[in-house]
Amino acid sequence: METILVVGSTGNIGTAAVSAALRTKRNVLAVVRNQNSADKLIKNAGTSKGITFAFADVASKGAIKGVVEQVRAGKLPAFQHVWSSVGGEYTDTQLPEISDEQLEYNFELGFKANFRAYRDTIGYLLEQKAESTWTICTGSQGDIALYPVPAMTQGALFSMVIAACRDNWKSNVRVNEVLLGFRVEVDEAAKEHGVSSSTEFGKVYEEILARPEIRSSRIRVDEVEDLTKLRYARRFPEGTEKE
Ligand SMILES: NC(=O)c1ccc[n+]([C@@H]2O[C@H](COP(=O)([O-])OP(=O)(O)OC[C@H]3O[C@@H](n4cnc5c(N)ncnc54)[C@H](OP(=O)(O)O)[C@@H]3O)[C@@H](O)[C@H]2O)c1
Repeated sequence: METILVVGSTGNIGTAAVSAALRTKRNVLAVVRNQNSADKLIKNAGTSKGITFAFADVASKGAIKGVVEQVRAGKLPAFQHVWSSVGGEYTDTQLPEISDEQLEYNFELGFKANFRAYRDTIGYLLEQKAESTWTICTGSQGDIALYPVPAMTQGALFSMVIAACRDNWKSNVRVNEVLLGFRVEVDEAAKEHGVSSSTEFGKVYEEILARPEIRSSRIRVDEVEDLTKLRYARRFPEGTEKE
């Protein structure tokens, strides 16, 4: 049985990945910062069956590296897929009001934690030589920037993904980015706020896992119809492939 490492597992988006994994009969290795977060995920997912918890704080530099070391040592289960969706604040603070602390905090979580989730797992996935995927969720704020704080971290992720898509164009790891253009929340909150639920959004990940032709691509999810009929396009410019 395959296992998916989920970074940012307790969030609205991470919960979608967990639910997709469990629905497709895969196990989950969920990175959580403490027992409260683990309990939150069990509540969000509605079960603990099939979930192994890796306790690590993604806000610290060596967190994911440490998780992979434990996997290599056989202390945590081997994984074939990675989903990353660590997020900072979803705030409309405008550029002149953003403090140094706020900037640092949000880049630490919204960008650096996702960057490390890639840098510190990709070598492991390549070594395993199994048919693998590495997937990240970004957001349309990166393009429209009405909320500059999350927008700037999304923008940095866009560039990271282009490089990762190019690097893995021909590798055993299908790297993909899901660009989400509307609000998704864990099921209970989604119902309350009239937005899409994590369970619904998880369908996108199920498709990505099932379809080997989706690689090095951006999957655009702008409308509810996009949850089941995937719109995707290669993410790095033609003619810039590496030899
Ligand atoms: N939700 C949406 O509709 C939507 C739309 C477009 C794009 N996105 C993007 O998707 C990503 C995730 O969004 P989300 O809605 O899932 O965010 P979220 O619900 O706030 O979840 C954020 C995740 O990051 C972790 N985290 C937050 N602060 C942390 C800290 N100080 N230390 C360690 N872990 C921390 C949380 O863990 P804890 O549970 O332990 O706090 C949680 O797993 C973001 O990049 C966001 O911009 C989301």
